[in-house]
Amino acid sequence: MGRPVLRTKLCDMLGIEYPVLSAGMGPSLVGEKTGATVDLVVAVSEAGGLGVLGAAGFTIDQMVEAIREIRKQTDKPFGVDLLLPSSTVSDGDRDLDGPLEIPLTDVLKTLPKSHYDWMLKVKDEMGLPDIDVMVNTGSTTVRPHAAVKACIEEKVPLFCAGLGNPGFMVKDAHAAGMKVLGISGNTKNAQRIAESGVDLVVAQGHEGGGHTGRVGSLALWPQAVDIAAPTPVLAAGGIGDGRGLAAALAVGCVGVWVGTRFLASHEGGLMDVQKDAIVRASDEDTRRTYLYTGKTSRATYNRFHDLWETSGLEPLPFPLQVLFASGMVEMFIQAQKFEYVGPFAGQVSGLINEIKPAGDILKDMVEEAVDILARRLPEEVTAKP
Ligand SMILES: Cc1cc2nc3c(=O)[nH]c(=O)nc-3n(C[C@H](O)[C@H](O)[C@H](O)COP(=O)(O)O)c2cc1C
Repeated sequence: MGRPVLRTKLCDMLGIEYPVLSAGMGPSLVGEKTGATVDLVVAVSEAGGLGVLGAAGFTIDQMVEAIREIRKQTDKPFGVDLLLPSSTVSDGDRDLDGPLEIPLTDVLKTLPKSHYDWMLKVKDEMGLPDIDVMVNTGSTTVRPHAAVKACIEEKVPLFCAGLGNPGFMVKDAHAAGMKVLGISGNTKNAQRIAESGVDLVVAQGHEGGGHTGRVGSLALWPQAVDIAAPTPVLAAGGIGDGRGLAAALAVGCVGVWVGTRFLASHEGGLMDVQKDAIVRASDEDTRRTYLYTGKTSRATYNRFHDLWETSGLEPLPFPLQVLFASGMVEMFIQAQKFEYVGPFAGQVSGLINEIKPAGDILKDMVEEAVDILARRLPEEVTAKP
């Protein structure tokens, strides 16, 4: 049998075989590099989809190096995802005066006393070790303008903006022959992003992993399709197999943006214990919490969530809460208290029973969607206009 055919206008727009993108997942915490690695990008693009590098935790040099490494390993299209929160975009890039890396322990001392004292209390009570992690002072997230410029110079085929609106860079990206994608969790933002001139909008439902909004996928996708029109919409949040892909196409999306399922792959950038946590998790085993970033994000439920609830503390604004949570999680990891550690992950975790190569995940997803659309639905559903 030849390769199955599953095409939408997304395939023509991006020059890909199948309408499946692996999501641009950055690091969950300071000290990690990325969830969506070079290997994941290459595997997904080589399998006929489009892999997106999670470059939020990289320095600009590391990002450019990763882009060039992808190009060495595949001639297929790929994407790069950055976080562009409006506050950092309007404040401008952080200067690179001073050291490029500083110890996380030094940064933690600058947190509000309430949070720092609570951290020391937990460390003392649980006998946690000192940590030895360096914080990057020049990541793409604090230098968004220079990072965007580097992506344009590298002519990245698809530029993706996680947080924020990439409208400010669309003209320059188009002049370089690139496409631009923005992500939204509600119709208000989907409309704002579409009107800023992007080529594609991702509508991510409440059930998705990482930063996530309040509206469920099946309610959001068709509403986003309507409001963003004529800009095409990709569905995200809760897609783990061919059933999710077929459902997304049925509501009018041109393709899918898949995070958690590709994270739990051989190539996904997580520690094995975290991948195992996704495999073990049922549909109810994730929580949406302010704990990790100060914004609402979904992660695998673990005992750190309970500990945080008892703290009585308010979350700090992004990105201070990221530093606070990273310090705590690093201590749990070094103490091997993995019951206090869980990755960003979505409710689709309950559907994931195995860590597989990313190319197999994509192949299985496409085959199942084709079977549903070409065989199962015509056989099982009687429909006549
Ligand atoms: C570990 C992890 C890290 C993430 N980091 C980012 C990020 O840096 N930028 C971004 O645009 N989205 C990020 N996301 C969200 C994904 O891009 C995607 O929208 C989401 O995973 C889709 O839902 P799903 O997990 O149900 O597939 C992250 C998701 C996960 C699971």
